[in-house]
Amino acid sequence: MRVVVSEMAESVLDDMNKVRGIDKSGMLSFCVDMAEHYGRALEAAERVSLCFSVLENVVIAGMGGSAIGGELLKDLVREDARVPVEVSRAYSLPGYVDERSLVFVVSYSGETEETLSSFLDAVRRKCMVFCVSSGGRLLEFAERLGVPFLRVPSGFPPRAALPYLFTPLVVLSERLGVVSGVSEGFSEAMSVLGRVSGECAPEVPVSNNVAKGLAVGVNGSVPVVYGFGVFRGVAQRFKTQFNENAKIPSKWEFFSEVDHNEVVGWERAGSLAECFSAVFLRDKAEPVEFRNRIEITKGLMPAGSKVFEVRSQGEGVLARMLSAVCVGDFTSVYLALLRGVDPTPVDTISVLKARMKQSGTKEKVIRELERLAGSR
Ligand code: PA5
Repeated sequence: MRVVVSEMAESVLDDMNKVRGIDKSGMLSFCVDMAEHYGRALEAAERVSLCFSVLENVVIAGMGGSAIGGELLKDLVREDARVPVEVSRAYSLPGYVDERSLVFVVSYSGETEETLSSFLDAVRRKCMVFCVSSGGRLLEFAERLGVPFLRVPSGFPPRAALPYLFTPLVVLSERLGVVSGVSEGFSEAMSVLGRVSGECAPEVPVSNNVAKGLAVGVNGSVPVVYGFGVFRGVAQRFKTQFNENAKIPSKWEFFSEVDHNEVVGWERAGSLAECFSAVFLRDKAEPVEFRNRIEITKGLMPAGSKVFEVRSQGEGVLARMLSAVCVGDFTSVYLALLRGVDPTPVDTISVLKARMKQSGTKEKVIRELERLAGSR
C-alpha cells in the first residue's frame, strides 16, 4: 500500500492532544484494548451454563452493531457447521424457525424494536432462545419469561462491544454441538490482536502505521471494501465502521460475486471512479481461486483507481478474521479524526429511533411481551 502522507495528516493523527481533543468519548481506547475485551468476554461466555436439546438450525437475531457478530459467526462456522446458521435482521424470524431452532437474540442496548419483536416471535414459536445484551427491555423480559441470557458490560457504543457480543455466540455454538474446535482459536486471536493493536496504536506515526496510512489513503472517497470467504462479514464490518465512526458512505462486496456484476460497474465509471476507493481484504491462506480473482479484478479497475489492501495476521482463522477487523476499526477511527469528527456519537441513528418511537411499533411489541409475561 503506497500512501502519500500529507503534513496535515501527520499533524492530526500523530498529535496525541489533537487525537484526544477530537475522540472525545474515547473510541480509540476500545480499539487499543480489544485483546483485553476478548479475554473478558471469553471468561464470561465460558461461565454460562446452558442446557438445550438437539437443535436443527441457528438464527442470530439483531441489528447493526449487534448483528455483525452473527455475520462473523456465520462465516467462521460455514464450512464445518452441522446445521444451518443464519442472521436475521428483521421484525420477525424466518418461516422455518420453530421449537427445534436455537435463536440468539442480540441487542447491546436491549431496546431495539426489531430485535424485541424477533424476541417476541422466538418466544411465541417456543424456540430455544438465548439473549445477549447489556440490559434494557430485552433482559427485563428475558428474566420475567425465564429465558436464559448473558448480561454484558454496559457503557460501550454497541459496535465497540463486538468482543462481548460475538464471543458468546462462538463459545455457545460450540458447546451446543453446532461446530467444534473453533473457540480454541481465541487464545491465538488475543495475542495477535495485542500485536495488531500495538502496531496500529495512536502513538505509532502515520509513516509506520497501517491503519493511519489506510485512513489517509481513503480519505475524501467512498471506500468500497471487498471480502471473500471468512472475510465476507469482515468487509461488512469495515463498511459499517466507516459509516458510524467516520460518518461517511461506504459499501462492501464479496468475491466471487464481485466478478459477476460489481466489476462491470468500474468499466465505464469515468470520473465517477474518482469518488471511490477500493479496499481488498487479503489473507495468506486465501485459496488460489480467490487469489487469482482478486488479482485479475484489480487489474481490470480503471487506471489511477485508489486501490488498497489489508492483510490479515495470524495462523488460525479466528485470529486472521479478528486481526482484519482490528485494522478496520482503527482505520475508521483515524478517518474520523482526519475529518475532525468525534467517532462515538451516532446522532442520526438516535434521531431515527426517536422518530420511529412515535409510530408506536415498539410500544406494541412491549405490550405483547407484557401480556405474555403476565400469562406465565
Ligand atoms: O452501532 C450502533 O449504534 C447501531 O448499529 C446499533 O447497534 C443498532 O442500532 C442496534 O442497537 P442495539 O445494538 O442496541 O440493539
